[in-house]
Amino acid sequence: MSTVTMIYAGMFYIATLLLVVGLGYKIFDYSRTPAPLKIPTTPAPTTQKGVVYRMAKEVVLFESLFKSNKWIWVFGWLFHFGLFLVLARHLRYFTEPVWFWVVIVQPFGKYASIMMVAGLAGLLARRFLVDRVRYISTPSDYLMLVLLIAIGLSGMLMTFVAHTDIVALKSFFMGLMYLDLKPIPQDPILLVHLALVALLMVIFPISKLLHAPGVFFSPTRNQVDNPREHRHVAAWAARLDQNN
Ligand code: HEM
Ligand code: HEM
Repeated sequence: MSTVTMIYAGMFYIATLLLVVGLGYKIFDYSRTPAPLKIPTTPAPTTQKGVVYRMAKEVVLFESLFKSNKWIWVFGWLFHFGLFLVLARHLRYFTEPVWFWVVIVQPFGKYASIMMVAGLAGLLARRFLVDRVRYISTPSDYLMLVLLIAIGLSGMLMTFVAHTDIVALKSFFMGLMYLDLKPIPQDPILLVHLALVALLMVIFPISKLLHAPGVFFSPTRNQVDNPREHRHVAAWAARLDQNN
């Protein structure tokens, strides 16, 4: 087995471990963080079903961002929806047989890459061009966008310009999953794409990208507006009550 294959195999095992453990730990930590106050942003749903509907609108349509800023909404939504389709298309590298809906999504995922990168470009331009946003932007805000753009562009180069050996690539990743190592195709663009993806996986659990699981734990979004019907007691306060 070539050195490059060994390095990439090791890199992806470590990156996956850090992503799964890191993300698992953060989600566990979020789940046990007390929400001592009743603070749903009103007007808020008064039933649990209503909360699910509100959360779905927030995650799928970015409703509150739409209400607050149309430009960021356009670019942000283009990027995220593009990313979603691109990632759905990528599932074909990790599944055998490929699920039928992943087959259907293939052509959409291919062109969604344009949405994704255009959205990211708009978000990056905003960080440079809008004074009040530039003022509060940190290096990590820029780096995150640049990293995602680099992943997107390297992917698009393979899809639209210089193809890589998809069959060999799939056998490498299936091999990783079933502990049966196969050689990785050694095109430079693919190697760059994959190294950047591994970097993204490692920084995900220690960066602002945690907003993806975090949104589900936001008390302003996930609480039912029922403080007149039920007294709100945080879990830790309820335990204290019992002990006294
Ligand atoms: C449940 C899934 C997700 C939801 C609901 C979500 C929602 C959002 C929202 C509402 C913004 C705010 C835009 C703004 O006000 O500036 C945002 C920003 C961002 N999201 Fe997500 N996101 C999700 C998943 C992801 C994932 C998986 C990634 C990357 C792998 C990602 C990358 C980013 C980045 C880089 C920004 C910052 C853009 C900027 O510079 O302003 N998001 N997201
Ligand atoms: C281990 C994970 C990944 C592997 C093995 C992988 C592999 C590939 C390959 C082989 C292509 C070329 C497809 C073709 O020629 O038809 C591609 C394209 C692409 N990749 Fe990835 N990639 C991975 C993760 C990601 C991630 C996390 C992102 C986004 C953040 C991404 C974004 C893209 C984009 C935008 C394209 C171009 C559009 C497309 O063909 O889907 N990739 N990727």
